[in-house]
Amino acid sequence: MTVYATKKLISTYRLAPEFEVFVDEMLMLRAKPSESWLPKVMANLDAVLVDHAHLERKAATSALSLERYQELFERVADLNAIAIEELEHFQLVLDILADRGVPFSHPISSPWISGLMDTIRKGRHEQVIDHLLCAALIEGRSCEKFQLLAEALAQVEAPLAKFYGDLVESEGNHYAAYLLMAKEIDEAETNSRLDFYLDLDAELVQQPNDLPILH
Ligand SMILES: [Fe+2]
Ligand SMILES: [Fe+2]
Repeated sequence: MTVYATKKLISTYRLAPEFEVFVDEMLMLRAKPSESWLPKVMANLDAVLVDHAHLERKAATSALSLERYQELFERVADLNAIAIEELEHFQLVLDILADRGVPFSHPISSPWISGLMDTIRKGRHEQVIDHLLCAALIEGRSCEKFQLLAEALAQVEAPLAKFYGDLVESEGNHYAAYLLMAKEIDEAETNSRLDFYLDLDAELVQQPNDLPILH
């Protein structure tokens, strides 16, 4: 019995309407996931859902950890709203796992995420901007991959396809929110580092792995 499709996602975080176009324009990824990514995920859905649960948990943690930076003290309410939304996503994935009879289990670390996060520099402005850009890219890739999964699942598991489709806008909003926060701190530095991170992401995202993970 699949009950989760009827649950409504509660989105507490909203970008201002003028940024809606920005979301479409700014998801400017430079490479597609490796060829083997979608078949791997489709063949390991239960394990990938466990990874997805951890991904949402880590997204909530990440929003809260950004609140330690002085440059973001005025954005604490926005970051709390994102963290709350990610926790809601986390709980929805846990409900799906329970519905499928899949136990919640240990996280698997992602080479792609580590490859991004390992490049965060120390220093005033540098660290917070890099941290925001890594968080933005993780949200952006989630947005992209949830859309791909929703399309692939449509004919196979319609309720799960709907669930992934429902998450796309939210993760896209988070991507744009983090990018805007970085630009507000230092636009020139953000643009320069975004160029670096888009190249790094494009290189890392095409390295296939056999791990049952989304990223
Ligand atoms: Fe999320
Ligand atoms: Fe998110």
